[in-house]
Amino acid sequence: MNELKALILGKFNAEFTGSGQNNQQRIKAEETKFRWHTGRILIAGTEAATVDNFYMMHSKTSADLELYIHNLPAHLSKGNGSKNAKTRKFYLEFAINFQAYKIRTELNDDFLFASKNKTSKLSVTRKRTRSTSGISLSSIQGDKRSKGGSRSASLALQSQYMPMPNAYGTQIKIYSPTHVEFKRFDCEVDTRSLQFKFLNLQADSPNIKGQLDDKPFAEGGMKLAFDLQVGNQQLVAKRYNKFTPSVNSGVLTDADKIKQNRSMIYADAARLAQGAAFMKSFYTRAKMLGATDMDLHIQFATGFLAQETGCSPSLASGILSFLDDSDFLDLDDLTWDKEGITWLVEEKRSSTFTKFTGTVVHVPSSNGGETSNTVHAFAHYVHWYTNGQLVMADLQGTQVSENGKDFLVLFDPMTHTVAGNSGCGDHGEAGIKGFVNDHKCNEVCELMELSGLQDNEEDS
Ligand SMILES: Nc1ncnc2c1ncn2[C@@H]1O[C@H](COP(=O)(O)OP(=O)(O)O)[C@@H](O)[C@H]1O
Ligand SMILES: [Mg+2]
Ligand SMILES: [Zn+2]
Repeated sequence: MNELKALILGKFNAEFTGSGQNNQQRIKAEETKFRWHTGRILIAGTEAATVDNFYMMHSKTSADLELYIHNLPAHLSKGNGSKNAKTRKFYLEFAINFQAYKIRTELNDDFLFASKNKTSKLSVTRKRTRSTSGISLSSIQGDKRSKGGSRSASLALQSQYMPMPNAYGTQIKIYSPTHVEFKRFDCEVDTRSLQFKFLNLQADSPNIKGQLDDKPFAEGGMKLAFDLQVGNQQLVAKRYNKFTPSVNSGVLTDADKIKQNRSMIYADAARLAQGAAFMKSFYTRAKMLGATDMDLHIQFATGFLAQETGCSPSLASGILSFLDDSDFLDLDDLTWDKEGITWLVEEKRSSTFTKFTGTVVHVPSSNGGETSNTVHAFAHYVHWYTNGQLVMADLQGTQVSENGKDFLVLFDPMTHTVAGNSGCGDHGEAGIKGFVNDHKCNEVCELMELSGLQDNEEDS
């Protein structure tokens, strides 16, 4: 398949660049992909197989045959001999990642480096080398020059989180921000019922436009985090990184990723909004009870959902094509026209955070401190407030200082619910039981008159 690709690419480049053009303008093999009709990706590991093996791998079962070999675009499907057992034919699309190509070839253009100081972390040079190697992105320095700049913070962030067993050079990443366009959705929670809904408040306003890095600066257990710059705001865009192939085909398509990420990331946004609603109610009770001997400034991160749109998906989104009509299986999906990956966007915070509770472990890691006691009491409060129907887990936060005030911002919480359907990591009843077993009441629980967690358990 590699030779096939080289062959096609050679022909394509000859037309694309003309014979007299320099090598740099040629599309490179790594900027291209074979894919099946409708954008379906190849079975993993077949990209470099022999053509014979490639055909075999995609025709093992009759389902495979239908999905790949016989799944032809309309103009080819009529009167074509492909179902004739004697001729082995297949049709692939040859996709070019034009964005990657543009980044490589237009590095010096204004669109990437609009403002010098913003990108001073990257000093990417365009080398006009001899013959074959084309442009090489030679290494980066410059973070020394941009002390305290937000961009250099992302490098610092990396060094704190990633072990560096190898030589330094292998850990260096080159970030190439690209233009992105989003539709914004916000989650709103009713403080009483805790029902939430998603609002497209900006339906009539222009889309959000920004620059999104092509590589993540951080990775959690489930999500990747990318730097996003909108105007002069330094933001973080997060998406899920783990998906399951659809049961029928065993193949993971872009449409699968878009839909799976959508449902999980919406749940994340809902949890943040719910957390904020719980916190508000927690502090209202504190005020009512005159409880002041606690941390009174804890917040949940405010975020919004940003659904990628525009002409093509960003490199960061990890997909090649938007959802299109052929991906719509039911009418419900029709509202998601021209949909790329949906991001959870938050303000960029510092890299160091404190973990108070885990997904299934809720015991305080150390005895203490006012903030820790308050967070644990808050967890108790949520259980009490929801009559044992919901537990907030994975409580973790970053210390933020704004206008001379220090406060804790909680992010990426999880919830365990009776129904077990509140999003990624919901352990259902077992998750709730785990909290009841683990939680140890502290001084703040007492101030909030929350002692006696077991009493709330209907079934114990
Ligand atoms: N707003 C933010 N500012 C800075 N770093 C962040 C922010 N949100 C997340 N991160 C970084 O990204 C990592 C993954 O994000 P997180 O929301 O915790 O996803 P996961 O579901 O994978 O745990 C975090 O551990 C943290 O290092
Ligand atoms: Mg996390
Ligand atoms: Zn308690």
